[in-house]
Amino acid sequence: MALQLDRLGRPLRSLRLSVTDRCNIRCSYCMPEADYVWLPRQDILTFEEIVRLVDVFIDLGVDRVRLTGGEPLIRKNLPHLVELLAERSALSEIALTTNGILLPDHAADLKRAGLDRVTVSLDTLRPDRFRALTRYDEHARVLRGIDAAIEAGFRGLKLDAVILRGVNDDELVRLLEYGTQIQAEVRFIEYMDVGGATRWAWQDVVSRREMLDRLERHYGPVTPVVEDTSAPAARFTLPDGTTFGVISSTTEPFCRRCDRSRLTADGLWYLCLYATEGIDLRAPLRGGMSRAAVRDLIASRWQARVDRGAEERLQSKDRHAFITVGRLKKDAHLEMHTRGG
Ligand code: GTP
Ligand code: 5AD
Ligand code: SF4
Repeated sequence: MALQLDRLGRPLRSLRLSVTDRCNIRCSYCMPEADYVWLPRQDILTFEEIVRLVDVFIDLGVDRVRLTGGEPLIRKNLPHLVELLAERSALSEIALTTNGILLPDHAADLKRAGLDRVTVSLDTLRPDRFRALTRYDEHARVLRGIDAAIEAGFRGLKLDAVILRGVNDDELVRLLEYGTQIQAEVRFIEYMDVGGATRWAWQDVVSRREMLDRLERHYGPVTPVVEDTSAPAARFTLPDGTTFGVISSTTEPFCRRCDRSRLTADGLWYLCLYATEGIDLRAPLRGGMSRAAVRDLIASRWQARVDRGAEERLQSKDRHAFITVGRLKKDAHLEMHTRGG
């Protein structure tokens, strides 16, 4: 079937599969509250159901899948899902975004199962800060997890750091040095006002411009890498040749090139990180709708897609947390941790 284009001409290519809404830490930019409402267990798609949906997405042109959470490695037996996905030759890439805590236990199995790439969230190199930022004392395990991924043979590791003013914005250089040391590409992420970021405030955002200015003061001129991709990170090179990325969804969004959509662990399909309504694919799947009919449903919704959530947020004047705590409590699907980072 021909590539599906949305109303802005963007193809349906990349699918982010959230395999659980649960997480084993509580990053302040994502899960700052004391309590959360979890998705009902019986609604969580089985691996078999996930793969049936992935097959339909493949029919429609999806060739990249990324496993996300919550923390995806909390999902029991995740390497088996990777194995099932790896059997799909139409997928050019199966990737994982993880906080790394459980990587020491699973990296080797994931590699054997056919996982292509791993991205680890690493916001700080200081254990005390990690604890303050996440409420858990797991920094050493994250670093061990990164080592385990390398030992298991993963190359092209990426390290994602959300930069928060007054929290870790003095660690740009150290994070880059650590990246160089382990041959991983570091990506600095602007703090986003996504659902779940209930403490978000403009003054806590360190913009891409500011990050680059600070790095230039330390290293000298930073050169943009010229490339035409749908990836969220703009890449740059330091005078010493080190390459890094900046994901500037808050101040310089990339919606025009966005080819991604997200499936929650309970089978709701979201066309944008900021979308407030998802499309229920679980009910049709469990209700016995034919593969062709599910395909038509997905295709028609993608063709109608006009979402450019981050760009619209940028235009909003009095910008503050996008979704209130009260609303999040009523609909867990509005949470970033439910729709997979
Ligand atoms: P690759 O391009 O394959 O490396 O993947 P990725 O960068 O999409 O993966 P990753 O999960 O590491 O995403 C990094 C961060 O970019 C996320 O945690 C979000 O903060 C941000 N991000 C990812 N997808 C989107 C998106 O669709 N829209 C916006 N605005 N931000 C996104
Ligand atoms: N701003 C930016 N990135 C976020 N993530 C979660 N919440 C936010 C936010 N408010 C992303 C981070 C993290 C991944 C799991 O989700 O990149 O590493
Ligand atoms: Fe894509 Fe929405 Fe993110 Fe923009 S905000 S890049 S449209 S997911």
